Amino acid sequence: MCWRIISPFDTVLVCANDYRLHNMMIEGEVSVLDYGSQYSQLIVRRVRELGFVSHLYPPARLGELNKPGAIILSGGPRSTSEKDAPDVDFAKLNSFNVPVLGVCYGMQLLNIKHGGTVKPGVTREYGPAKLVVAQDCALFKGVSHESQVWMSHSDTCQDRGGETKVIATNEDGVPVALQWSPTCFGIQFHPEVTHSHEGTSILRNFLTNTGAKLAKFDIQAFKAQMLAQIKHDVGDREVICGVSGGVDSTVLAVLLQRAGVKVRAIYIDNGLMRLNETAEVKTQFEEVGVPIEVVDASKRFLDALKGVTDPEQKRKIIGTMFVDVFWGVADNVELLAQGTLYPDVIESATSGSIASVIKTHHNRVDRIMELKAQGKVLEPLAELFKDEVRALGQSLGIPHHALWRHPFPGPGLAVRVPGEITQEKLAICRAADDIWIKELRRSGQYERVWQAYAALLPVKTVGVKGDERSYEAAISLRAVVSEDAMTADWVELPYEVLRAASNKILNSVKGINRVLYDISTKPPASIEWE
Ligand code: XMP
Repeated sequence: MCWRIISPFDTVLVCANDYRLHNMMIEGEVSVLDYGSQYSQLIVRRVRELGFVSHLYPPARLGELNKPGAIILSGGPRSTSEKDAPDVDFAKLNSFNVPVLGVCYGMQLLNIKHGGTVKPGVTREYGPAKLVVAQDCALFKGVSHESQVWMSHSDTCQDRGGETKVIATNEDGVPVALQWSPTCFGIQFHPEVTHSHEGTSILRNFLTNTGAKLAKFDIQAFKAQMLAQIKHDVGDREVICGVSGGVDSTVLAVLLQRAGVKVRAIYIDNGLMRLNETAEVKTQFEEVGVPIEVVDASKRFLDALKGVTDPEQKRKIIGTMFVDVFWGVADNVELLAQGTLYPDVIESATSGSIASVIKTHHNRVDRIMELKAQGKVLEPLAELFKDEVRALGQSLGIPHHALWRHPFPGPGLAVRVPGEITQEKLAICRAADDIWIKELRRSGQYERVWQAYAALLPVKTVGVKGDERSYEAAISLRAVVSEDAMTADWVELPYEVLRAASNKILNSVKGINRVLYDISTKPPASIEWE
């Protein structure tokens, strides 16, 4: 059982709809059974990084797997002792005769199947722990005798079946890794997260030291598979593709065009874009050769947001309006394509009864979920993390500067102007943001930073301008590094960069008399202000 708290390890169950690429199972793939851990897809991603094809499946689809090369059972939020706890068809699992690894909940399940028991937790183990390797085995070959791993569980494996070997313990001697046969293992910790320092080596060992016959992952084959899948899913229907100019929607539009389906790429100016953004986006799409239609809906969005201060309400209004505008622009549209990535799916907790909403991403509002249920939403990137989308974009020939644009949230500046949105506030935020981004580019820091922006704070502060008292707003500058937006750290920028940006903002942006640099990590903060 993993703990359900709002953290990078918070738990979620992705709806069946989100397992979308798996109609095309690949012989020799690493099939990951998803028991509901927020990090299940991260296992898939790590396997791909190690060079092998991998896909995620609900456990109920075990019987449909087509000659997998190895199977991993993920962690999950439930306890095996609960009456209707998710199970595994053990006979079926064994019938594949391939290496099997159980992670956390997956390990506990396998321990029961091998004749052991699981003890419901009295105390929880959450966070860094020491892994002490107890026995030479395929899984820990080359792994340090002691290393840090990440735990997130309360239940533990208590008794073990006759043939079970304890291959590692924690520093108190409690078993945290078991081996049931030469190719069947269980580990209590999460090897997929970077806090498990040798986690990748352990996964690599599982994949390469157990005789698994695995399909090799390469981006060209992956791209070809995606194009074929899109063609298959879309058929003759016309797809409307919303584009913002960001990496995700640019890659999506180019993918759709290369797949040879009927596509209309529509850019909606919601009045919440950055300075000169619409003109820049037009140029970018000319460069990649995808025609776009520009719709100016800024008045509609800003009117709908008048007087609204609640962040969740803002997001819902914007998300719903996006869909309304799309449908207004093109009647009889059969499919809506979105550049949704995996972190958007997981953080909005779109379906699961056990899910916890961190914030509603604009592409997961109710209206879109209804369309999704009707099979009218296409999200080919929903399994991918940002860096994987960039790699895909590169293989599609999209220019570097388009792929390395910082991410920009769908609700735009609305989430960077906490409180009510007004034209005046937006203008201030835009001007400060433009100075900040230009300063990062000028100083060569832009690509070192994963995402940067200026937010206009809803406070007024006292200052002195000339000989006069000023009572004006404060700007917060943010620059973060992140691997996949699920966690983030603020960037230690050179003081002169901060000083230059601050001076320029204070001297040229009317209405600002204070500039702050945001030094909050995610968690507990998020990247955006709202
Ligand atoms: P947070 O603020 O949740 O942001 O830490 C994580 C990443 O997601 C972006 N973001 C969004 N992207 N629709 C999007 O398409 C949204 O509603 C949304 N909210 C946040 C954010 O810019 C960051 O890159």
